Amino acid sequence: MAVKPEVKPARPWFASGPTAKRPGWSSQAIPHALLGRGIRDPEVVARFAYGLKLTREVLRPPEDHALVYVPGSDTGAVEAALWGMLGQRPVQVLAYENFGKVWAQDVRDHLKIQPEVLEAPWGGLPDLSRVDPRKDLVFPWNGTTSGVRIPNADFIAADREGLTICDATSAAFAMPLDWAKLDVVTFSFQKALGGEAGIGVAVLSPRAIERLDAHEPPWPVPKVLRLTEGGRFNRALTTGSMINTFSVWTIEDWIDALEWARGAGGLDELIRRTEANAAALDAWVRRTDWVEYLAADPATRSTTSVCLKIVDARVTAMDDDARRALVTRMKALVEEAGAAFDIESHRNAPAGLRIWCGCTVDAADIEALTPWLDWAFETALSE
Ligand SMILES: Cc1ncc(COP(=O)(O)O)c(C=O)c1O
Repeated sequence: MAVKPEVKPARPWFASGPTAKRPGWSSQAIPHALLGRGIRDPEVVARFAYGLKLTREVLRPPEDHALVYVPGSDTGAVEAALWGMLGQRPVQVLAYENFGKVWAQDVRDHLKIQPEVLEAPWGGLPDLSRVDPRKDLVFPWNGTTSGVRIPNADFIAADREGLTICDATSAAFAMPLDWAKLDVVTFSFQKALGGEAGIGVAVLSPRAIERLDAHEPPWPVPKVLRLTEGGRFNRALTTGSMINTFSVWTIEDWIDALEWARGAGGLDELIRRTEANAAALDAWVRRTDWVEYLAADPATRSTTSVCLKIVDARVTAMDDDARRALVTRMKALVEEAGAAFDIESHRNAPAGLRIWCGCTVDAADIEALTPWLDWAFETALSE
């Protein structure tokens, strides 16, 4: 009979998106003064510009990279790059989990250019030596749904001709990014810093801006994805101007997250907190014989979206539906107890657990979580 733990995580939020709010977050701390004001009001525009400036300060991209907000969260930012920049040269997509597959589908079925899709089974990475510097490349840095990340950007040529479009939504603010190898970097407020959903950011290298300035896509680009005006990169977007009406609340919440991040010690501290969380979970994985990482190669294991499979023989003998039902029961047990929320793997991924370890989570809560996972596993299996 499994013994129910007594101590619950103080903040039982382990979802991979939206992720836990920052420690100490309160809706009352979000400034309200600009709510209800017009989106083109100079004070509102200045506040949006401040948000971009702070994003730059915390994330530290190179000086000559431009930052723009894009509607539609990370998906909006990725698709603005796909719709606005592709079509000039052949395209490769790394599809090693759900989102790479989504981008491959966008390129193939909607833009109707035949990309070369480099695939890998769940838990693996494609053969990166097949990446061709003459082609545009679309890829996630961290596969949120498989817990696999690229270990570094050495597979990208410094003197490439193609652009690299990197979906870094579950990597930015949590892992170092090799900016020299990345022409477009996208992320959402709702990921590593626990912001609200709905708005994404694209960080554009000079080469990406050059592409927007010179390239006319052969397909229509919807207004919400349009980074150009009059056939050139719309530089007003880098100064707090918006593509359409954005939520002032969401931007204020983003500024709150960034001010917390800066006050906590900036990017290095965000990465340190993330790694400490992943290490706390790793200590449990190592001493627990019923779980193992989905990511086969330790060098590719995510430190944010940690995906685990259940390797107990009684579970591996089950069919997929039964395995999924077991995880659903585990999730219900810990949620009923108020000990942890949203610990299950993505709906398109193999049945298992996914624990977000980003910087807004506290290591003590990861430590408090693991006995609950043991309890839920034993309880669900014995029912
Ligand atoms: C790698 C990756 N790309 C894209 C998305 C979609 O993000 P959003 O819902 O913020 O558009 C997610 C969401 O979890 C993700 O993990």
